[in-house]
Formats: sequence, C-alpha cells, structure tokens
Amino acid sequence: MRQRIGLFALALSLQAGLTATLKADIRADTNRDGHVDLKGTSDSTDKAFWSSTHGAIFLPNVGDKQMRCATTDLTGNPLSNDELAYCNDASGHLLLAPEYLAPLRTVPMADISDNATAQVYTTPQAAYDRTRIFVLEDLSKPNATKSWRLVDRELYFNATQLRAGLVLAIDGREFVKNAAVWDGHATVHFEVTDAISYSVPAKVSTDEVAMKVAPVLTHHPLQRVETLVSSAANETNLVQSDFVAQIDAARQKIGLENPLLLFNQSSDIWAQDILEPAYASMPGPNGPIAIRIMMRSAQSTRTGGRQIFEQLRGPGVGGFQPGSNTGTGFGYDTINSYGNLETIPPHRSKKGRTYPAGRAIFGKHWDQLTSQPVRDLLYGNEVQMPLILETGWLNVGHVDEIIQFLPYDNELGWTLAIGDTRLGLEILRNVSAAGHGGVMAQSYNVSRAATLEADPPTQPGLTMSVDELLANVTFQENQAYAQKHLDANLDIFLSEVPLDHKDVIRLPALFEDAAPGPEFIRPDGLHVYWWPVIEGERQLIGLVPATVNGIIIGDQYLCPQPWGPMVDGQDVWMSHIEAAYARAGMTVTYIDDWLSHHSHGGEIHCGTNTLRQTDLPWWE
Ligand SMILES: *[C@@H]1O[C@H](CO)[C@@H](O)[C@H](O)[C@H]1NC(C)=O
Ligand SMILES: *[C@@H]1O[C@H](CO)[C@@H](O)[C@H](O)[C@H]1NC(C)=O
Ligand SMILES: *[C@@H]1O[C@H](CO)[C@@H](O)[C@H](O)[C@H]1NC(C)=O
Ligand SMILES: *[C@@H]1O[C@H](CO)[C@@H](O)[C@H](O)[C@H]1NC(C)=O
Ligand SMILES: *[C@@H]1O[C@H](CO)[C@@H](O)[C@H](O)[C@H]1NC(C)=O
Ligand SMILES: *[C@@H]1O[C@H](CO)[C@@H](O)[C@H](O)[C@H]1NC(C)=O
Ligand SMILES: *[C@@H]1O[C@H](CO)[C@@H](O)[C@H](O)[C@H]1NC(C)=O
Ligand SMILES: *[C@@H]1O[C@H](CO)[C@@H](O)[C@H](O)[C@H]1NC(C)=O
Repeated sequence: MRQRIGLFALALSLQAGLTATLKADIRADTNRDGHVDLKGTSDSTDKAFWSSTHGAIFLPNVGDKQMRCATTDLTGNPLSNDELAYCNDASGHLLLAPEYLAPLRTVPMADISDNATAQVYTTPQAAYDRTRIFVLEDLSKPNATKSWRLVDRELYFNATQLRAGLVLAIDGREFVKNAAVWDGHATVHFEVTDAISYSVPAKVSTDEVAMKVAPVLTHHPLQRVETLVSSAANETNLVQSDFVAQIDAARQKIGLENPLLLFNQSSDIWAQDILEPAYASMPGPNGPIAIRIMMRSAQSTRTGGRQIFEQLRGPGVGGFQPGSNTGTGFGYDTINSYGNLETIPPHRSKKGRTYPAGRAIFGKHWDQLTSQPVRDLLYGNEVQMPLILETGWLNVGHVDEIIQFLPYDNELGWTLAIGDTRLGLEILRNVSAAGHGGVMAQSYNVSRAATLEADPPTQPGLTMSVDELLANVTFQENQAYAQKHLDANLDIFLSEVPLDHKDVIRLPALFEDAAPGPEFIRPDGLHVYWWPVIEGERQLIGLVPATVNGIIIGDQYLCPQPWGPMVDGQDVWMSHIEAAYARAGMTVTYIDDWLSHHSHGGEIHCGTNTLRQTDLPWWE
C-alpha cells in the first residue's frame, strides 16, 4: 500500500516536471476591497468575470496634473473643441498621475527556467486603444513618473521579473462615451512561455482578469457640497454682482468654507447649464479614489463651456466634450442645457433595478431628446440609466424648473419636491377670500430694480391685483395646462420610484405664457433656441419665481425669493414655502434673483452650480 502511494507520487511529480507547473496568474482588485490579494483567493475567485457587484475597476486618468495641456496652438490660435479635449494625463505614454492607477499583480513564479518570457496586454482592441498598462521598474519610488514603464504589446518580461512577480497598474485614456465604440470593459491577459530547450515544445500558460473603467456619474443633491459656483460679474453688470454678493453671503451664513468659484470665461450667467460636474471613482486602500469630470453641454456656441478645458481641468479634474460628429449638440438648443439634467438620489426602482449612485433624469421636448452624445454617455455608462420626463410644455424646458430632490425621513432617505399650480391658486384665492384681493399679485420692489438696471423688465403680476389675475381666463387656462403636465410627470416618476405619494412635497407655482411665436428664425444658420409652439400645446414660464429651482446644501435651502402678494407686511407665499421645506427638515434662505435670472426665464439653480463630494462608492 505504502509503496503504491510512493510510486503514484513519483509518477505525478515526473509528469509535473514536464508539463504542469507553469501557471500564469494575474490579479486585480476583483473583490473591490482596495487591495490585490496574491496569497488567498479573495481576488482570484471568478476574476475573469465582471458584473455590477464583482470585478476590478480602473479610473479614466483624464486630469491634467501638471497643467501641461495647451489651450492655444503655436501661432496663438485657440484650439478647437476637440483638440482642447484631446489632451489629458493619459493621452500620452508617460504616467503623470500615478495616484489614479488601479493595481495589477502577477503571482511570483518559482518553477520557470531562465528562458521564460511573458507578455501582458488588453483586449478587445477598443480597450487596448483606450487603456494603458504600466510596470513599476523602481519599486522604491512608486510615486515617480520615471519609475513606471508603459507595457506595450511588444514588450517581453524576463524570468527574473516573473520570479519576483510583476507590479503592474492600469488606467484609462478615456471613459465610456459611446458603448457601441467601447463599453468600458477590458480583459487583461498574462501569457507566459517557457522553453527549456529546443527539443522540448515550449510550455505556455495564459491567464486573464476582467476589468472595467469606472462610470462617469452625475451628482445627486444629497451629496455633500464642497464648492458653490456661480458666474462672475463685471463692473458693468450690477444685477449679476448683486446676485453673486447674495449667494456669497448665503455661503458664509451656511458655513461653506471653500470660496465661491466664479466662472469668468464668458458673460454667460447660466452656470448650471454650460457644464455638469460629474465624477468617477474606484475602490482604494483607504476608501474610494475619485477623479472629477466636468461635462460640457452639447451647445457648441456657448463658449463658456470651453473653460472646462481652459481653466477648470487640472490635477484630479478632467473634462468631457460632446462629440462634434454625431449630428446633434451643435448650436444652443435649451434642451441640451444641464439644467435639464438632474440626478435622482440612490434607490431601488419599482422594476427592481438598483441605482446605488442615483439615476439621471432629463426632460424631452415632445419628439426631441437630449443630444445624442450626452445620451450616448448617460446610457453607455449604464449605472445611472436616465428617466425621461416631458418638459416641452415649458418655454425653457428644463427639469429643474419643476422638480427637485430633498433629504427626507422615509425609507428612501429623500423625497421629491414638485411645483403645483393648484396650491399657487389656492393661496391667491385665500388672499382674496380674506379681503385682500386688491393687493398686487407680485410684490417685487421696482424701485430696487431701478437702482440695478436702467430698464428693468416688467411682469404682469406687478400691475395686476390678485383678483384681476384670478379673473384672467388665459391665466387660469395656463395653470390648468401646466398642472396637467405636472401631474403626468409625477405619474411617470412615481411609476418608477417607490416613493409614497403623500411624501411628495408640493411647492406653490404659477405660470404664464411665453410662447416665442413661429417667426423666430436665427439669421446665423444656427438652431433656434426657442422652438415654435407645437399645435395644441403651449410654452410656459414661471410667473412666480420657481421655488423648486434653488440649491440644496445639506439641510439648507437657497430659495428664489417669491415676491408674492404682501398681506399685513408679509409675503403670503413665504410661509407656505417654509412649511414645505420644513417637512424635509430644511431651513430656507431667500435670494432675490428676480432681475438677474427670473426675468430671463431661470432661477438661482440655473445661475449656480455645485462641486460635490466625489470619493463615493457606486459599486456596493
Ligand atoms: C506616494 O504618494 C502617496 C500619496 O499620493 C503617499 O501616501 C505615499 O506615502 C507615497 N509613497 C511613497 C513611497 O512616497
Ligand atoms: C530582466 O529585465 C529587467 C528589467 O528590464 C532587467 O533589469 C534585467 O537585467 C533582466 N534580466 C535578465 C536576466 O535579462
Ligand atoms: C534556454 O536558455 C539556455 C541558457 O540559459 C540556452 O542555452 C537555450 O538555448 C535556451 N533555450 C531556448 C529554447 O531559448
Ligand atoms: C478667472 O478665474 C480664474 C480662476 O478660476 C482665475 O485664475 C483667472 O485669473 C480669472 N480670470 C479673470 C479674467 O478674472
Ligand atoms: C460685462 O457685462 C456686460 C453686461 O452683462 C456684457 O455685455 C459684457 O460682455 C461683459 N464684458 C465682459 C468682458 O465680460
Ligand atoms: C385656504 O383656506 C382654507 C380655508 O381657510 C384652508 O383650509 C386652506 O388650508 C387654505 N389653503 C392654503 C394653501 O393656505
Ligand atoms: C424698495 O427698494 C428701495 C430702493 O432700494 C428701498 O429704498 C425701499 O425701502 C424698498 N422697499 C421695500 C418695501 O422694501
Ligand atoms: C390675461 O389674459 C390676457 C388675454 O387673454 C392674456 O393675453 C394675458 O397673457 C393674461 N395674463 C396672464 C398673466 O396670464
């Protein structure tokens, strides 16, 4: 018995010596704990398969750590949009920002001859073209660019290196822009060949690990605000200066330490619309590692968006330029402003799909959708698959005019706030019933306007009493029309999101007609930004400042001042707004945006932006 076992073992070891011991083994952080496990099996189990809950992740290394990317060519001409966007830390062959690498290791190989060689490469070709693998040659200086060498398809590792185990890392030159071109998946191959002599066939062992580039994610309003953003005003623009001063005072009152960031590349005041701050994150040893990605709006004529590449790109900050070759996204269509792209906080939908980083939401305008390149990005990144509302009944047509998400004490941890004309009308009727129907429907201080602007725009409520407004048939029709669409949008929302109907917070709203008329044709060949009204429909705009169109900063809410009817020295609108936000545990600070934004079809939210926390996991 004993002898038989001995012979069996001998036979096995002979066989092993000839064929078996060569075992290529490459590993990444497959279990997403921030480490690569070479000894145990935590990162080897199912490493060749990637799913939303399992599989290694790497970042698109698209910042500009050393501010090396040019904004003009050698003759001083500005670079084109595409040229601007091309340059980033990963557009070349040097590892400029090692802090954004995802680790890859090979298990040290003992039983190889001095002749053993190996290659490491990525498939498919689309991934090979958009990722970089590096090997750390100077183990003592992992933070130095010089220590890392690009691993090309033609680079061979030798036996010394394989015995020690390769210290490799990967980053992305790109994020997913269009899944039909590259869906973000990358399979990293490790191929070892050992030839002891010419008379014995070479032994070959191959191994793979599945990886995927981190998705580009937009921020939902429950994420912590790091920096508040608006647009700078020059000396000639008192109205914007006044707005910026109010926003900055509110920032200080709330205790946001970072100074206000003011866009200054153009006189475009719509800081919400020209760009959408987004981020990409992956697991790291001390928590998530993240990079910020500023998405430019698909509105090529709004040069303010270029400041993503001209000013904002830098260490840890990259940009997205919507492709110019998709046939949409040219010009200035308001549907493509990012006031029309918001993010529903994390939840599990009624259909059972989880959105751990939240879900994108945008408004379509009848048969028009958000531009192709932005849809390609949102759908291609999969994690925040958009929900689509109908906002074509609004003149500007952005989702932020009608909805907002607030922290809330329910199972979801948040709720929806939505504009409501029934509530707006009820407030006016009660003012009238209480005997104050003769007061002006809107209380904006016109003397104050005159100190800021020579010829301030007027609005109907400034010259109409509450009773006159209530008696106006067109006005009433507009509210009914708006409410029909608000209700339909709420139905769409509640059919997807398991939010209790009674937890929805309603904010009083009133609209007026702002139809541009069919004659609006731009002389310069660009798309119109105000499309003609569809037959049987209208295009409305907020009569009262839209009080869902503000800024959520934790439990603080920066709200457009409503300028409602004044009764006994009180704006009757305010107590309703404050009560509504108090349901969500939020404190309201009013900002007067009447002249700066409201009278131009927007509110505070449209004229500001927020840089929110980025080091958040989306993979759990
Ligand atoms: C490399 O940089 C990181 C911070 O990015 C630091 O924590 C680490 O200590 C550095 N390592 C070395 C060897 O200098
Ligand atoms: C193996 O490769 C390393 C790195 O290129 C090199 O320093 C070393 O000399 C090579 N060893 C042999 C035995 O060729
Ligand atoms: C393997 O290496 C030895 C020397 O180390 C050399 O003589 C032999 O030719 C090599 N065999 C192959 C197949 O390269
Ligand atoms: C614009 O703002 C940037 C900081 O974001 C600053 O460096 C630059 O000097 C400003 N330019 C002008 C003209 O104010
Ligand atoms: C200054 O503001 C005015 C009014 O908004 C605007 O027309 C002008 O273009 C601005 N100038 C600069 C240099 O931004
Ligand atoms: C309007 O008045 C009625 C009757 O007093 C009251 O029940 C209702 O709550 C009031 N509505 C609003 C929005 O204040
Ligand atoms: C309206 O604005 C003017 C000019 O700023 C100011 O003197 C006046 O007190 C304001 N009126 C009210 C009711 O706030
Ligand atoms: C009041 O009615 C007139 C005539 O129908 C209309 O032109 C106007 O826009 C209405 N006012 C408001 C505030 O809706």
